[in-house]
Amino acid sequence: MKMKIAYRDLSVTDPSMRRALLDAVDTVLLHGRLLLGPEVEAFEKSVAAHCQKKYAVGVNSGTDALFLALKSLGIGPGDEVITTPLSWIATANTIVLCGATPVFVDIGEDLNINPELIFQAITKKTKAILPVHFTGKLCNMDRILDIAQAHNLYVVEDAAQAFGASHRGRMAGSFGHVNCFSMNPMKVYCAYGEAGAIVTDDLHIYDTLLSLRYAGTINKEDCHRPSLNGRIDTVQAAMLLVSLTYLDEKIKRLQEIASFYANRLGGFLTCPDPGECFHVYYSYTIITEQRDDLKAYLHDRGIETKIQHPILMPHHTAYKKMYGQTNLPVAERLVEQILCIPNHEKLTQTELAYIVKTIKDFVDR
Ligand SMILES: Cc1ncc(COP(=O)(O)O)c(C=O)c1O
Repeated sequence: MKMKIAYRDLSVTDPSMRRALLDAVDTVLLHGRLLLGPEVEAFEKSVAAHCQKKYAVGVNSGTDALFLALKSLGIGPGDEVITTPLSWIATANTIVLCGATPVFVDIGEDLNINPELIFQAITKKTKAILPVHFTGKLCNMDRILDIAQAHNLYVVEDAAQAFGASHRGRMAGSFGHVNCFSMNPMKVYCAYGEAGAIVTDDLHIYDTLLSLRYAGTINKEDCHRPSLNGRIDTVQAAMLLVSLTYLDEKIKRLQEIASFYANRLGGFLTCPDPGECFHVYYSYTIITEQRDDLKAYLHDRGIETKIQHPILMPHHTAYKKMYGQTNLPVAERLVEQILCIPNHEKLTQTELAYIVKTIKDFVDR
């Protein structure tokens, strides 16, 4: 029998979670400190602690987090920032909006930046490496940190997809100088609207971020540097505090789903390999040469999938002219083969079995 399975289901159906979220909103409505209220500070403290960092700054998106993080390091015109070509376009946009130039280094088979290729891309203009923990799996941070140290470069983690992920006990967001998260509703650790956060151990960077987050002002009065308004809403911070209490359970479920898929599909197509990483499976991204046919086959049988992301960043219309022909063979191949299949925590065993059976039917056709 044909089923209908959504890629994500953002509705809040768990009655106790809904109650807790509504109570959190109610508390904010009653105290009325809607901008930078006490829940923002509580949220920041819990994010910093979770990431093994001293300071966190709540902002209104992962895009803002990246933009303000790069600004806080003084990255600007004439600077180069090394990053991956395979990410949501916010990664490249924020580098460009700072006036700097993204330098794209090819990825490995794990879809993350290939650290061995970073050396060749370093020039006198390079200021930072911006790795993206794609799909919720950590990049090889030991290697990236070694390279950065040898060349005196900043590391800015784009951990938008990886809150909660870790490697040998070190959390995503704990590795770089200043690190960024998105907490939009699609993310594993999610708000109920736009939200993000930045973490750092450096007091000067922290103070700069607080100023950059609110029009470049000090004490909300005098503007020291032109900036935007990137404050997180108190209501989102309050809901994020609730959603944090459900995070471990959610990650556990996503990991169970990942094992279920890997055990049943691993023989037919390439499934994610967590290696030594505590992978949080922001997406469950399979790799197959028959990606477009499989996507259509699943669609016809009621299964919604996504391609994250279908266009490499240097190939977006905004950047095509600037980068022309790229030499990123692995990324150029894999971007045609990646497919994210449903992996949200509300999926039932019956739905998971249907997804697996449908994929097997496709392979056996
Ligand atoms: C890798 C990556 N970087 C940056 C962002 C931007 O985050 P936001 O959508 O919260 O602005 C996202 C979110 O989609 C992302 O996946």
